[in-house]
Amino acid sequence: MRTRRIGELGVGAIGLGGMPMSIEGRPDEQRSIATIHAALNAGVTLIDTADAYHLHADEVGHNESLIARALAGYDGDTSDVLVATKGGHLRPGDGSWTQDGSPEHLKEACDASLKRLGVEAIGLYQFHRPDPEVPYEESIGALRDLLDAGKIRYAGVSNANSEQIRQAGDILGDRLVSVQNQFSPAFRSSEAELELCARMGIAFLPWSPLGGISKAGELGSRFAPFAEVAKAHEVSPQQVCLAWMLAKAPVVIPIPGSSRPETILDSVRAVDLELTSEELGRLDAAG
Ligand SMILES: NC(=O)c1ccc[n+]([C@@H]2O[C@H](COP(=O)([O-])OP(=O)(O)OC[C@H]3O[C@@H](n4cnc5c(N)ncnc54)[C@H](OP(=O)(O)O)[C@@H]3O)[C@@H](O)[C@H]2O)c1
Repeated sequence: MRTRRIGELGVGAIGLGGMPMSIEGRPDEQRSIATIHAALNAGVTLIDTADAYHLHADEVGHNESLIARALAGYDGDTSDVLVATKGGHLRPGDGSWTQDGSPEHLKEACDASLKRLGVEAIGLYQFHRPDPEVPYEESIGALRDLLDAGKIRYAGVSNANSEQIRQAGDILGDRLVSVQNQFSPAFRSSEAELELCARMGIAFLPWSPLGGISKAGELGSRFAPFAEVAKAHEVSPQQVCLAWMLAKAPVVIPIPGSSRPETILDSVRAVDLELTSEELGRLDAAG
């Protein structure tokens, strides 16, 4: 697969989002492992996860543990796989998502993620979401301390606006390598952050790129131009969507979620789908 850069690392230009394998509606472990192995076989080397990707209160890190088991049980080389995890969100078990961006929590959460992933340093650790109760520079200061301690190799931020991205860049310097924000045909408002990342030369990882778990299947029926371009190329509207994102800037690395081998295998083919400038213009206008 063609690669793009996260810091000094090259990763497959389409990553795998792990969330659907651990939250509401998740499949059994066998299917999840098959999905991760199919992704690896297809050249995926970026897997996005978070300690908060779990269902019940007593299974924090479900998705991180699943990914660690899948990598351990893979019969190929996994040395170039970047597992990108996050801290700062919590799931009490009632379906809600809460936050704790305090340095104490982030440091404890990172230690727990290190154990679950079974690594000495986490390749990419992302602050999941700004916590309105904690000054942003304090949360980002925790990432700087984790970098200095060698517990994480690179840092990223998520759900950050342009000002927060600049602030994180001031604190972390070139160790800030990625921004993960929501971006899809239905959700365009983070295009400003995407452009900022392109100017700063840091990776932009669109989350819910297909519109989210419950809406991804309807992408073609919700946005007709995506279905029309898909028909012309004899591919899926989802593949067109990912190719459209890849064409936006060389820093874009979409992380479509998947819980079946078929869907991630379809998604990775987006790296080879060339769209014309006329097609890209039609997709841009299909808001
Ligand atoms: N930072 C944050 O705050 C945040 C928030 C949300 C998500 N995320 C990350 O972003 C990742 C992606 O977002 P998401 O999972 O919410 O939504 P998504 O990627 O927009 O949609 C996921 C769904 O798309 C389906 N799908 C994937 N590829 C497809 C294809 N080629 N054709 C048809 N259907 C396809 C999958 O179906 P199957 O399940 O049937 O395979 C999956 O359930 C997450 O997994 C997570 O890692 C981060």
